[in-house]
Amino acid sequence: TITCVIMAGGKGERFWPKSRTNLPKQFLNISGNKSMIQQSIARLENLIDISQIFIVTNGLYAELIKAQIPHLPHENIIIEPIGRNTAPCIGLASILIEERFPDSTMIVLPSDHIIENEEGFIRILETAVEVAQDNKSLVTLGIQPGYPETGYGYIESTDQREIVNELDVLKVNKFVEKPDQATAESYLEAGNYYWNSGIFVWRTEVIRKYIQQLMPEMHDILETMRAAFGNANFAEVIKDEFIKMPDQSIDYGIMEKVDNIYVIPCVFGWDDVGSWTALERINELDENGNVIKGNILNLDTKRCIIESNGKLIATLGIEDLIIVDTEDVTLICSKDKAQEVKLLLKELRMQK
Ligand code: GDD
Ligand code: MG
Repeated sequence: TITCVIMAGGKGERFWPKSRTNLPKQFLNISGNKSMIQQSIARLENLIDISQIFIVTNGLYAELIKAQIPHLPHENIIIEPIGRNTAPCIGLASILIEERFPDSTMIVLPSDHIIENEEGFIRILETAVEVAQDNKSLVTLGIQPGYPETGYGYIESTDQREIVNELDVLKVNKFVEKPDQATAESYLEAGNYYWNSGIFVWRTEVIRKYIQQLMPEMHDILETMRAAFGNANFAEVIKDEFIKMPDQSIDYGIMEKVDNIYVIPCVFGWDDVGSWTALERINELDENGNVIKGNILNLDTKRCIIESNGKLIATLGIEDLIIVDTEDVTLICSKDKAQEVKLLLKELRMQK
């Protein structure tokens, strides 16, 4: 069997003020008329039944998920008592899924990516599942890098190449999470590196083996949880134990340390919609390079991202700004600071 785990615990802080703690970006319509998580689910339902799809998230968002995805069985919503990054999220999902679907091949993916070519995406997932089942490896979907992004993981491929379903499957030499600028530039130049899309495919048994080897303290916690499965105090055990989990991403905790990785290079129009400037890549621009949503009057305005919440926003003689109006907050931000919008939130919290 195939199962899917959608990681939906992120706070989407770089999309503030539209994305808020009680309504983060994966639940918003940032690209199209459905929320990002609704789009993610719909995409996967072309491959498997909804009963095989699991969402891991914080308790804050359980009701939102039930409202936005009413046909998802409630027992497929896995609640983390606290966010401990992606390794614990995946670890918890793997033991719960093993109980329900023994020996499944798990597709792990974020809740908030954009994929243009959905048919191509499904074909690649099918192939990744085949590879993961056959050779017990960790399979990643790689994206041809367009610029030296330091916020992504990089996958160095080797010449060892197999063709499965007409797709290239490359043996990975190493996985490097978030390199510095100079390193990222050298990777781009080298040509045999891919961005990590954040989509992973592996058998639960295989990821559990690596967790045992490389994150033994997390493994022990997961075993304690597993031992309580089916008991009346199961929820309590999860709550008490999860807090002890290391705060670590799967990329640093496992992927950087394993040499049994394969990458499938993908061209399906991928974007991780990381910050406001992503809107320039996923929307049509007007003749001055602006992205404009809502009630806006602009003259002599170039390369701006402007979103109104009903009230008219009028601009004159500005360039390279992000302007986002919501009911209680208006953000005005230079485009080259888009990654740092989080700082405003940090400051606001300190003032409270
Ligand atoms: N349930 C849950 N719990 N989900 C989480 C948690 C958590 O504690 N932390 C993060 N997530 C979710 C996020 O919502 C997102 O969908 C996904 O897991 C990845 O987390 P990010 O925090 O967005 O990771 P990143 O962007 O820094 O880096 C990852 O993604 C890049 C591609 O977008 C890495 O895998 C990189 O290697 C990769 O290039
Ligand atoms: Mg991300």
